This record gives sequence, structure tokens and C-alpha cells, in this order.
Amino acid sequence: MMNSPVDRDLSISLSIDGLEVKVAPGQTVLHAARKLGIDIPTLCYLEKCGPLNSCLVCLVKINGKLVPSCGIPAQSGMNVESETPEVHEARRTALELLFSDHVGDCLSPCQRLCPLRMNIPVMIRQLQTGQVDDAVKTVRHALPLPAVLGRLCHHPCEQGCRRASADEAAGIRDMERYVADYDLGLAAGASGKTTHDPYLPRCKRPSGKSVAIIGAGPAGLTAAYTLLRHGHSCTIADRRSHAGGTLRDVNAEQLPPSLLDAEILQLHRLGAQFRLGAVLGNDITIEGLLRGFDAVLVTVGELSKADGESWGLEMSPGGIKINTDTFQTSRNAVFAAGRAVKPVNQLVRAMTEGQWAAECIHLYLENRTVQRPDKPFSSIMGRLEPQELATFVRSAKPGPALSPCNVCTGFSKTQAAEEAARCLRCDCRSSGHCALQSYATIYGADGGRFRSQRRPFEQYIQPGGVIFEPGKCILCGICVKLTELAREPLGLTFIGRGFDVRIATPFNQTIEAGLQKVAEECVRFCPTGALEFRDA
Ligand code: SF4
Ligand code: SF4
Ligand code: SF4
Ligand code: FES
Repeated sequence: MMNSPVDRDLSISLSIDGLEVKVAPGQTVLHAARKLGIDIPTLCYLEKCGPLNSCLVCLVKINGKLVPSCGIPAQSGMNVESETPEVHEARRTALELLFSDHVGDCLSPCQRLCPLRMNIPVMIRQLQTGQVDDAVKTVRHALPLPAVLGRLCHHPCEQGCRRASADEAAGIRDMERYVADYDLGLAAGASGKTTHDPYLPRCKRPSGKSVAIIGAGPAGLTAAYTLLRHGHSCTIADRRSHAGGTLRDVNAEQLPPSLLDAEILQLHRLGAQFRLGAVLGNDITIEGLLRGFDAVLVTVGELSKADGESWGLEMSPGGIKINTDTFQTSRNAVFAAGRAVKPVNQLVRAMTEGQWAAECIHLYLENRTVQRPDKPFSSIMGRLEPQELATFVRSAKPGPALSPCNVCTGFSKTQAAEEAARCLRCDCRSSGHCALQSYATIYGADGGRFRSQRRPFEQYIQPGGVIFEPGKCILCGICVKLTELAREPLGLTFIGRGFDVRIATPFNQTIEAGLQKVAEECVRFCPTGALEFRDA
């Protein structure tokens, strides 16, 4: 293959973080870094638009000065610093400044309040559009025993639901129950017989590592669900003759035992081994387990000080003493979670503790730094003013929540879709593929650090399906440049001065009118959720 002239003339030689690299004249420091595989963040840079120099998240340090790497031509002899704590701090500050007047919630309040972080808005949209099989995947991805949680969870998600400010919260738990029951063939209107096995999430390749879990209650079962999907084998021991722990004590009307059995069968199908009727201290010992397994997790429920100490574990007044950042006990390779550690009254909280402990064990088994999972990053809009709430409410179904009979059949498919239509879609349509959100996560940005009084939330729904949310625009200029390059008849431009600068179409036309040729390209390359497709 012929080399391009640019490839042949590699006459510029510079060093980045001590690594030598050669590039052609005219290439930037960013190009040189990318050639070395160094991932410098960029928000306002798109190759075809050239440097726009507006976001300043691509900072590097050259000769003692912080400069944007996307606009600085590479020169021979340059010594560039990129991946140093000082440069990272400067990039983090640049990101935090972009959030100072950012108006949007990356994650909806309901998702932020779900301890297991289920992607509730996605489940709801799938129900609304009849994609129930996809909703099953969304639910089972996050929840270990969804048919149980769909009945017994104290639904903190609904307490944060923005729809509650208009009339009543969306019936999230009932929708979740419908999805889980549908998967088990038990939903209202279903025959009670499944024509397929319930959905099993994919597990990673077997790691060759094994974990013993003592206690088959909510925390232990959740830990197993997490560890099995990471590819570790799990054996769950319990002194009772049935798995489920305190869930076995719930009134059968509220939680039919056959339904709990069906959910536990899912764990068997994922590969969990059970040793039931085994009493710790008599039938099994921690020493014995440590000889046969790579790690042990204790989730036995409440525990006396004497019992804990007889197992060689240091105790605190509440239960087993752990490092709360890692779930590690005083014994190497032994972890503990749930009520064995401290009183946990809510089912979903006990499950979350089990999940976090399992994530820590996974890191331990991989010889990585053990650390409980961080909260996912989200820009937070806070309380809505009445006119802002009205902006959300206008595209949702009016009327109060549908209430299925709680202890009988639950929602039908139609009812679940109707309830789903009440959701206000208050997550960001770009969440999960937004460059700003992604870099904020990587750099550990604090979205509230420079927060000032925020602008009002505005949303312009264009006739052809593009949505413009000006509060999420970081004025990067990419869309303006793309419309210029495409010779759009109207295009987009910056209007206003100082803090009031914004993106608009000339002559007060709609955004859609400015984007006749390159709407899709502008939506694709907008680094935030400012431009999105309505049904994204
Ligand atoms: S645009 Fe990005 S950063 Fe802003 S709310 Fe949406 S996902 Fe979050
Ligand atoms: S309106 Fe929908 S997306 Fe918003 S908080 Fe409620 S359930 Fe979640
Ligand atoms: S709307 Fe345009 S200027 Fe604003 S962030 Fe998106 S691409 Fe950049
Ligand atoms: S200033 Fe370089 S990417 Fe924005």
C-alpha cells in the first residue's frame, strides 16, 4: 500500500509523557497523542471541523503552560505532559465548569434512587412500545429476583418520581412486577405455562475461581447472581432446608413460595450450587471453606458476638466488623454483608449490600484494588419550577396511576403499557452515549462544584423528530461548523452576548429549518444531549 504524503513526511519528533512520537508538519499535539494511544478527552473537536478551541477539556502541559492540545501544532523537541495528576485536575476543572450551568439529569431521579440502579426509564419505554422481551433483559440485568422485588420492594424509586409533583408517581414497582411475571409466564392474562425458559443474563467465561456464600437470604442470593455473571463459580450454604432466608417467612399471599422457587431456579440455571441444611460451625467451618474456595462471603443474617468470634471474625457492636469500603473482614479472603454486619431493614438494601460485596470479591479475585462501586455520575437538575414540570408533562399520558390489585393478578400487558405512557421521560436521551457524561465519570468530576443558579429547563420538539434542549448545549460550535460545511440554506449560528450566547437558526426559524441536510450528523456529533432524536 502507498503511504500518503502525510505518512511519509514524519519530520516532527516530540515526546509525550516521556514517549517519543513522530508526526507530519501540520499535525497537532492531539494527533501525536492519539498516535501513541493516549486518550486525551475532547468535546469540541471533530477532525472535519478543525480546532474550535471552546471546551478546554483537551488540556496538556507544554513548557510549564496548560494549553488545548487540539489546536497546538506539534513541534520538534516539544515535551508534552498529558497523563499527570496536575493535567488531570485541570481537565476535571474544565469539565466541572461546563456543568456550572448545565440543565439536565443524566439519570432520572427514579433511577438514582433505585439502590440497584435499574434503568427504569428504559424499562418503561420498552413497555410502552410493547417490547416486553427487551424489558425483561433490562430488568434482569439489574435485579436478582425481580418477581420478589416487584411485590415486596419499598420502591424508593417512586418517591423520587417527577410525575408525583403533577399528580401521582408512575407505578414503577407494578410495571417491574409485570415484566418479571411475564418472564416467568405468570403475568395477568398469561396461561401460567411458559413456552420458553425465563431469560438468563449472559455470564462471562469461567474464571476458574470459586466463592462460598454462607447464607441463602436476599444478600447471599444477590451476591451469587453477581459473582456467577462475572464467571466465578458459587456454592451457597444455608442452615435452612430451602433457599430464600427471611423471604420464606413472608405471607404466602404476598409472596407465593412457588414464585420464590421459580426465581431461585434461575440461580440454579446460572450454575449456583446449594448446600442446604448445613450449619456453620457443625457441618461447615470457615477454615474448611477457605481450603476449598478462593473467597468466602458471610451473609447469615443476625449473628451473636460469640458465634462471630468463634468463627475467628472480629466483631463490632452491630455484627461482623468489616472495612465498609471493601466488605473485607478481619480474616483474609473472608467478606461479610447484610444483616451479619449491621441491621438492614429493607429488602432492596440487603440485596444491594450483597451486590456490592460481590463486586468487591470480584476485584479481589482479579488481584485488583478492592473498592465498593462508586455512585454513577449524573448531572442533577434539582427541583422543577411549575412551567418546567409542564414542559415534561405535555407529552405524557394524563390521568392518575393505574392500581392493580396488589396481592392478585398485577398489570396486564395493556395496563403496563398505559402506565408506562404516564412516565415523563426525565432521564437524558443521551445518557450512556454522551461524551460529557462519559468524561465526567472518567475524571471523577463533581457536577455541582461550580453550580450557580441554573437556567430554566427548555425543550424544543421539532416537527421532524429532533429535540433541542439548550440547557445541555456547551456551545462547542460543532453543529454550527457542520451546517457551514454542508452549505445548509439557513444553518445554525451563535446568537446573543456574554452569558446569553446560545445556538439558534437565523431569522427566528426552528432548529429543524436550520438542519435540512445535516440533522443526523449534528445529532450524532453533538457531544451532549443538547441535540437528540425524540425517539432515541
Ligand atoms: S447531556 Fe450528557 S451530561 Fe448533560 S444531562 Fe445529558 S447525559 Fe448528562
Ligand atoms: S417520570 Fe418516569 S423517568 Fe421520571 S422519575 Fe418518574 S418514572 Fe422515572
Ligand atoms: S447543540 Fe451544537 S453547539 Fe451545542 S453542544 Fe451540541 S453540537 Fe455543540
Ligand atoms: S478545546 Fe480541544 S477539544 Fe475542546
